Amino acid sequence: MRNRSRLLLGCVLLCSASLFYLGMSGIECPPKSHRYRWMELNLGSANHSSSLTEHFPEDTPLIFIGGFPRSGTTLMRVMLDAHNAVRCGEETRVIPRLLAMRATWSRSVKERIRLDEAGVTDQVLDSAVRAFLLEVIVGHGEPAPRLCNKDPFALKSLSYLSRIFPKAKFVLMLRDGRATVHSMISRKVTISGFDLTSYRDSLTKWSSVVETMFSQCQAAGESRCLPVRYEQLVLHSEEEMRKLLHFLELQWDPSVLHHEELIGKAGGVSLSKVEQSTDQVIKPVNTDALSKWVGHIPSDVISDMAKIAPMLARLGYNPHDNPPDYTKPEPMVSPLNNSQNLKATENPHPS
Ligand code: A3P
Repeated sequence: MRNRSRLLLGCVLLCSASLFYLGMSGIECPPKSHRYRWMELNLGSANHSSSLTEHFPEDTPLIFIGGFPRSGTTLMRVMLDAHNAVRCGEETRVIPRLLAMRATWSRSVKERIRLDEAGVTDQVLDSAVRAFLLEVIVGHGEPAPRLCNKDPFALKSLSYLSRIFPKAKFVLMLRDGRATVHSMISRKVTISGFDLTSYRDSLTKWSSVVETMFSQCQAAGESRCLPVRYEQLVLHSEEEMRKLLHFLELQWDPSVLHHEELIGKAGGVSLSKVEQSTDQVIKPVNTDALSKWVGHIPSDVISDMAKIAPMLARLGYNPHDNPPDYTKPEPMVSPLNNSQNLKATENPHPS
């Protein structure tokens, strides 16, 4: 009888120990999120319950890269991704959409009054937008000491972004509009409102969109926004990247000149399988695309170029040269002497 009790007790203990062991090994920890790892790395804690905005105050020195699509925006972001202190990552797509929506909320006076009456003030909306942007920028990629975002059209809201993130810096990619539009049309890159069957229509709209971004960049001032011309980036990569890193207050890192070696590596360059430029940015920096547009634009559009796309001259691209000599860049024009410049463009060879 005694032996049977001991045997029974032994069995119970053995079963309990086995169940405990099986139970423990069955509980798998969920994979650590990027946010968790970022917090562990940078903040020494990963307290999910505390809000992100506590850790990322509005003076977080974010980097925003943008410009008209097909202006080398992806190349710029992969070169910066190769820097050991920076992570940009793929386009988020949702950030420019939220910014466009935010712009509409304050546009109508009637709507503004309704929102104010409901306590949904500009301050409340700005905090919400800031938190959303930070969650997306932090959460969609690897942790890094300097986080960066590349969504080309986000810079249509450059002034707003510079207000809600007073320490953020902006990199505006610029490119000869004839090359940009040819790239868009030949690769069938659809942009809402653009007629891909018409160089005239697309160049007109290119000029207007780029003007919106460039004016805001100039208004932000040279300590906040750096315009980078694609042609100079591919022709003089080291010089341009040194200028850029100095502007961003980052140390020189030669890896930025060889981004292709870091593709798919931890802490390196992460690429989307479905982004338009992925097949191009996997290559080292090259000058192949500089003059691909020559011979593709209808002659009537070529002869009206200065009027169709006034931003060409303002950005230092001679609208009458097909192609201009990209190795001899002309200066960009500030808004103050813009009217003088337009006169010079209308009469390129004064007597
Ligand atoms: P083309 O289509 O004229 O070739 P975005 O990323 O802003 O859409 O810009 C796309 C342009 O960046 C493409 O222009 C492409 O050639 C250029 N680009 C991408 N990777 C490049 C590289 N490694 N060297 C030079 N240019 C590159």
